[in-house]
Amino acid sequence: MSDSNKDIPSDEELAAMSQEDKVRLGTNLDGVEIIHRAERYPEPGTRAEKRSEFTVAAWFIIAGLLAIAGFALFIWNRWEFTMPEESGYWAYTLYTPLLGVTFGGAILALGFGVIQITKRFIPQEISVQDRHDGGSAEIDKVTIVAELKDAAETSTLGRRKVILGSAAFGLGALGIAGGVAAIGGFIKNPWAKGDDAPLWNTGWSPIFNETEGETVFLRRDTGNPYQVALVRPEDMDAGGMETVFPWRVSDGYGETEESRHKLLEGIRGIRNSVMLIRFRPEDNARVIKRRGQESFNYGDYYAYTKVCSHLGCPTSLYEQQTHRVLCPCHQSQFDALEFCKPVFGPAARALAQLPITVNNQGYLVANSTINGGDFIEPVGPAFWERKS
Ligand code: FES
Repeated sequence: MSDSNKDIPSDEELAAMSQEDKVRLGTNLDGVEIIHRAERYPEPGTRAEKRSEFTVAAWFIIAGLLAIAGFALFIWNRWEFTMPEESGYWAYTLYTPLLGVTFGGAILALGFGVIQITKRFIPQEISVQDRHDGGSAEIDKVTIVAELKDAAETSTLGRRKVILGSAAFGLGALGIAGGVAAIGGFIKNPWAKGDDAPLWNTGWSPIFNETEGETVFLRRDTGNPYQVALVRPEDMDAGGMETVFPWRVSDGYGETEESRHKLLEGIRGIRNSVMLIRFRPEDNARVIKRRGQESFNYGDYYAYTKVCSHLGCPTSLYEQQTHRVLCPCHQSQFDALEFCKPVFGPAARALAQLPITVNNQGYLVANSTINGGDFIEPVGPAFWERKS
């Protein structure tokens, strides 16, 4: 707020003042006294000035190059889970650290460039200012605009094309790379079919069967992708839960390169993991089934996707006493006794249920008589409505 004791010029006087006069007036009205002010380079075109210009430009160019490198890594580097013996293991292992180094380095380099501008081109100034309370008067607003313009002009950035160009390069590259990194993972074709169907098909789908009608077994998580262990109903205790993945006889037992690849794909397919829950008899009697999914369970065995319907985190916590499935990301809870419908948190859709049964050898398998043994709706935060 202006000090009423100060000499405030009329509107006409104000309009007639030069920018420099307005700056001085503004600082006086704000109770600011400039004790020392000196241009960094009063003599334009000196070697020192050019060196400063080059230093600032160098930081912006480094920022741009790092952003482009991060962008290239994001697009082309291997990001899918890779076992140590597979090719591309190191590229996969270094993926996240390198993204951090490149994008983080780009932001850091931009920051250094801006700091160098203030240190090398903004005039040196020492000022003393009184404290004020309250809002600003109109005259203060006019003079502050003049001060800002003055700062921009005296910084001499306007005529420093190299710095402006390199800053545009650095900021532009970082902006594009950051934008792609932020939304790139969301870009999928939701209507694609076949192997490329990112939303509709999981590893349980019959489109991945080698032969017509091939059985898809429930394979337990042994911690070793090449060790196959199937599930029989008697293998699990009542009240328990375990994670299972799809497995076919044609996937083999890891005896060949191709088999090892298939076994790995079955586990790392992000829509493949399923929670197999076995209820106690007294709990099984209380189960409420979803309309259209009455025959999806096998006795007291129920299988639900582990992919949260909110944003896709693994809903891997099963609370035996309350029969709630918890998602650790945003605390959504699903009632396993009632077709895993959401009962708490941001998730709005029930977890997709996998139709299961037991084959003539006594193993738990996907029930191929229902949608070929696959889920009847997209798993995770995919489409937003059920197919049926
Ligand atoms: S991803 Fe599960 S609650 Fe958000």
